[in-house]
Amino acid sequence: MNVFKCSYRLPLLLLVLPLIFQSVTSAIDGSVYETFLGCMSKRNSSDHVSSLIYNPKNSSYSSTLQAYIRNKRFNTSSTLKPVIIVTPLHVPHVQSTILCTKNMGMNLRIRSGGHDFEGLSYVSDINFLLLDMSNLQSINVNIEDETATVQVGATIGELYYNIWNKSKVHAFPAGVCPTVGIGGHISGGGYGVLMRKYGLTVDNIIDATIVDVNARVLTRKSMGEDLFWAIRGGGGASFGVVISYKLHLVRVPETVTVFRVSKTFQQNDTDIVYSWQHVADKIDRDLFIRLNLKPDNTKNTIHASFTAFFLGNSERLVNVMNSGFPELGIQISDCKMMSWIESELFWSSNVNNPVEILLERKYSPKFSKRKSDYMQTLIPRNGFESLWKKMVELKVVELVFNPYGGRMSEIGESETPFPHRAGNIFKIQYSVNWDKEGAEAEEYYVNQSRVLYEFMTPFVSKNLRGAYLNYRDLDIGTSFVGNNSYEDAKVYGEKYFKGNFDRLVKVKTTVDRDNFFTNEQSIPTL
Ligand SMILES: Cc1cc2nc3c(=O)[nH]c(=O)nc-3n(C[C@H](O)[C@H](O)[C@H](O)COP(=O)(O)OP(=O)(O)OC[C@H]3O[C@@H](n4cnc5c(N)ncnc54)[C@H](O)[C@@H]3O)c2cc1C
Ligand SMILES: *[C@@H]1O[C@H](CO)[C@@H](O)[C@H](O)[C@H]1NC(C)=O
Ligand SMILES: *[C@@H]1O[C@H](CO)[C@@H](O)[C@H](O)[C@H]1NC(C)=O
Ligand SMILES: *[C@@H]1O[C@H](CO)[C@@H](O)[C@H](O)[C@H]1NC(C)=O
Ligand SMILES: *[C@@H]1O[C@H](CO)[C@@H](O)[C@H](O)[C@H]1NC(C)=O
Ligand SMILES: *[C@@H]1O[C@H](CO)[C@@H](O)[C@H](O)[C@H]1NC(C)=O
Ligand SMILES: *[C@@H]1O[C@H](CO)[C@@H](O)[C@H](O)[C@H]1NC(C)=O
Ligand SMILES: *[C@@H]1O[C@H](CO)[C@@H](O)[C@H](O)[C@H]1NC(C)=O
Repeated sequence: MNVFKCSYRLPLLLLVLPLIFQSVTSAIDGSVYETFLGCMSKRNSSDHVSSLIYNPKNSSYSSTLQAYIRNKRFNTSSTLKPVIIVTPLHVPHVQSTILCTKNMGMNLRIRSGGHDFEGLSYVSDINFLLLDMSNLQSINVNIEDETATVQVGATIGELYYNIWNKSKVHAFPAGVCPTVGIGGHISGGGYGVLMRKYGLTVDNIIDATIVDVNARVLTRKSMGEDLFWAIRGGGGASFGVVISYKLHLVRVPETVTVFRVSKTFQQNDTDIVYSWQHVADKIDRDLFIRLNLKPDNTKNTIHASFTAFFLGNSERLVNVMNSGFPELGIQISDCKMMSWIESELFWSSNVNNPVEILLERKYSPKFSKRKSDYMQTLIPRNGFESLWKKMVELKVVELVFNPYGGRMSEIGESETPFPHRAGNIFKIQYSVNWDKEGAEAEEYYVNQSRVLYEFMTPFVSKNLRGAYLNYRDLDIGTSFVGNNSYEDAKVYGEKYFKGNFDRLVKVKTTVDRDNFFTNEQSIPTL
């Protein structure tokens, strides 16, 4: 089973070029490169900046671009490529890139780990420069004060490895896929198996460094609480270039426990799934049980697989399961005890892998599409029966249910831009991955995910359908790059941020009034 749940292009919708960027679309010869290089060299003359700046003629341009493409949908010959790629080594290079790009009136895309499901960090429908942050990857773990400072180009696997290398009883609540980048993950929210105990990644951030539109380097104190609030869940790309985050580490026992059990429809899985729904957000917060639902096309049935992480030993886990969720029938023999770092391997790949695999940046992407929903009411039993039927009919869409509750319910909706707190039972991820090249295949698979999303309408929140920013989905709305209108942006903005959208707009208007930091789903100015 491929449990490396680590793998997703713009809808076939062409965005109209905003007027402000049209002046540069004709200048795609060498002159943009010469102008940019001249500007960069003038500002940082003592560095050899030309070795950090790639134009399409440079032999390593393609490999630099492709190194962090994590979705094959955006690795096609027809995908618009950056006019220039900059790979800064130091903060001054980032400052100069912002100023030089602004001078040229061009769009800038910021990429850390490149996992954006719609490729917004390295794809644009208008000419753009790519700021690739992957070289800014330092990690400093301080066990004495239980903090770590991590640059955005590091991966969460590298972060986990570095924490483990210093302490076996500390961890950090972030995602399970090791190649995900710190920059996008943290600025967009971040969640993983420690969520019910410790909340989201953004609930455990104590400081940050950002370069703003005027190339000022700001920390929490100098940026102020509004901007610091915005870059903890509101997405970094609307506000500036985040350089690093300072994290508060959390405690974990030396031994944790995991299990993974699968059921099929014939084994009464409607009842078990139905029961999961009743308990998963209420059970002991030391326990996180993810539910994966997958159509089995040879047997016309559904596989339900329950993967659990528990902050304790197997005996206590079995007790918790027996009293809270006996329907699953978990026994000691289903449980595996291990260290927290091994549990990360269990979730992302295979527990027998060496811990060093967390440092591996190579990743073979598929073509993928994701969508998301938040559930505030229970799906009725006959609802599940019809869902199974639909999933079998559609064949290719998998669902991942992630339980909320615990710490998540104690944090107020407006404490961070991420609003989906108390009252949410679980989050749904709609997932399709495919290997077949071409527009026809893409249309087929993406359509299947949209059909299932439509099918779920009666079961999800009636008034305002929620979505998770880090599961980027352009289907829920877009606005014009460089000219993001409030009305257009409100459509996706309220799904991602609910009532926090307006505060994000205010922060944006204060820190980037001319809307330099813009993309198809950025926060607009007033
Ligand atoms: C395989 C896979 C597994 C995943 N698993 C999880 C999971 O377990 N939990 C979870 O919460 N999410 C998960 N995600 C979603 C992931 O958190 C988001 O895709 C996240 O935004 C990726 O960050 P990145 O730096 O790799 O992406 P990027 O594509 O580099 O960036 C994503 C967005 O952030 C912006 N950005 C990036 N760096 C900066 C910066 N330094 N300053 C300002 N803006 C910046 C980009 O411009 C873009 O808009 C997963 C995604 C994938 C593909
Ligand atoms: C911005 O978009 C609006 C419509 O959304 C349009 O009326 C306006 O002319 C656009 N302005 C620019 C500068 O593109
Ligand atoms: C790209 O090519 C130019 C010459 O055309 C060279 O000066 C520059 O160093 C090259 N950049 C990189 C990153 O190799
Ligand atoms: C992108 O496509 C090229 C061929 O055009 C291939 O060599 C490369 O491996 C692909 N990269 C990714 C990340 O899919
Ligand atoms: C590089 O340029 C930036 C502004 O573009 C400036 O703030 C910084 O001091 C320069 N650094 C060096 C080392 O030249
Ligand atoms: C792990 O820590 C030791 C020192 O405690 C250090 O020598 C080693 O280089 C570290 N490993 C990595 C990969 O950082
Ligand atoms: C399914 O589960 C319910 C309750 O959990 C039980 O009453 C019923 O007998 C089970 N059916 C089968 C076929 O196992
Ligand atoms: C999308 O899929 C549904 C059901 O599988 C089908 O009825 C519909 O025609 C498809 N639409 C497109 C545009 O392919």
